[in-house]
Amino acid sequence: MENAKLNLGNMVIELPLVTGTMGEQAIDITNLRKDSGFITLDSGYQNTGSCKSAITYIDGEKGILKYRGVNIEELASKARFTEVAYFLVNGKFPDNGERLEFSQQLTENSMLHEDMIKFFHSVPPTAHPMSILSTMVNAMSIFYPQYFVDENDGEVFKLMASRLISKIRTIAAFSYKRSIGEPLVYPRHDLPYVGNFLNMMFDSPVKPYESDPDMERLLNMILILHADHEQNCSTSTVRLVGSSLVNLYSSVCAGICALWGPLHGGANQEVIEMLERIRNENLSIKTVLERAKDKNSNFKLSGFGHRVYRNFDPRMKILKQEAQSFLGNRKLDDPLMNIALELEAAALKDDYFVERKLYPNVDFYSGILYREMGFPTEMFTVLFAIGRMPGWIAQWKEMHDSVPFKIGRPRQIYTGPTEAHYPG
Ligand code: ACO
Repeated sequence: MENAKLNLGNMVIELPLVTGTMGEQAIDITNLRKDSGFITLDSGYQNTGSCKSAITYIDGEKGILKYRGVNIEELASKARFTEVAYFLVNGKFPDNGERLEFSQQLTENSMLHEDMIKFFHSVPPTAHPMSILSTMVNAMSIFYPQYFVDENDGEVFKLMASRLISKIRTIAAFSYKRSIGEPLVYPRHDLPYVGNFLNMMFDSPVKPYESDPDMERLLNMILILHADHEQNCSTSTVRLVGSSLVNLYSSVCAGICALWGPLHGGANQEVIEMLERIRNENLSIKTVLERAKDKNSNFKLSGFGHRVYRNFDPRMKILKQEAQSFLGNRKLDDPLMNIALELEAAALKDDYFVERKLYPNVDFYSGILYREMGFPTEMFTVLFAIGRMPGWIAQWKEMHDSVPFKIGRPRQIYTGPTEAHYPG
């Protein structure tokens, strides 16, 4: 196809077209301001591609999600989370030697510096685990300061990546143990990634953790489903912050903060709180939908809607099925699941949701599963962050390896006063 032509008064600006490997198209405006003096305005970046990326592909209309070409359904049913983490970060699946080396690095880096652990004893038990997580991940740049010594040094990057992927579990579990006032359970070298995390979470002096292969399989799969999602709010944050050349730990810390918000990863906690409110206040589904549609209310149906998915979220499909079979296999009847199913069915028949193409997203059923698995509500977004860690790292690395590398710095249209003065 020819270049795009933009008529601006008496100027015609030619803008090259860019086509991705899956056929998505873009108009390249890199030289627009230089050639015309104009910038583009796109609040919330609804039409703006911030980078070219070979990591994740989403087709929001068809509900397709692929990591480096592999469908999410295939990875969720066949792979282990650590393999997917390696695959995202390194661009290839590990061979046997690489798998062993990566596994060893994760094991060796699972402990926290003892001085870091002191911090857990001074945080109030009421602290939200996401604020502890972001603080501690940023604190890694204090305790493990060999970062960005040489941006081409693959070994330094490998070590930093392994530290983050491994230690995030330990920090997450420690923050939980602290919140319930139980002694911290240290990581064990004999346990696999997910089993080790579950042991740190649930082993206690009164009730030792008993390995549960079904729980481990399930959590492994949930982490895979969350491992990357192209240029969402938190990943774009990691890229933007990282573009100033700050270290990986601090860049990822910024991503954790962005993820926490209820419009993003924090929605999994919001969903359960919403379902609990519906149950406790005995609200009818009709009332809830009316509130969600009311433009004078700031209530939204948590876990519904997505910037990219306009048909269905493939991760939600898998999670819904898993939640139903988990409950079925264990002969459990969860009233929140019943409310969720009812709410979904009613919303999908309601013109408001149909016209706006609002469907349940990944967060709608993940919370129900986490809850059934025994995780407290405040840990839900932390679990999301554990899963997303390899994606953030992969995206950060891809950005730093890209040519040309540019600091992220959007422009604006100024709308303030043209001239003002200091009073007096
Ligand atoms: N409940 C009610 N109305 C909604 C919802 C919802 N959950 N989501 C969107 N809408 C409405 C909006 O009010 C808007 O209506 P309008 O056109 O009449 O003004 C329309 O649908 C389009 O929504 P936008 O907010 O413009 O869509 P956007 O792409 O900017 O936002 C978002 C997407 C943030 C996910 C939004 O759907 C939302 O707030 N959902 C609830 C929070 C949530 O579940 N977040 C998790 C997303 S998945 C993730 O980040 C991991």
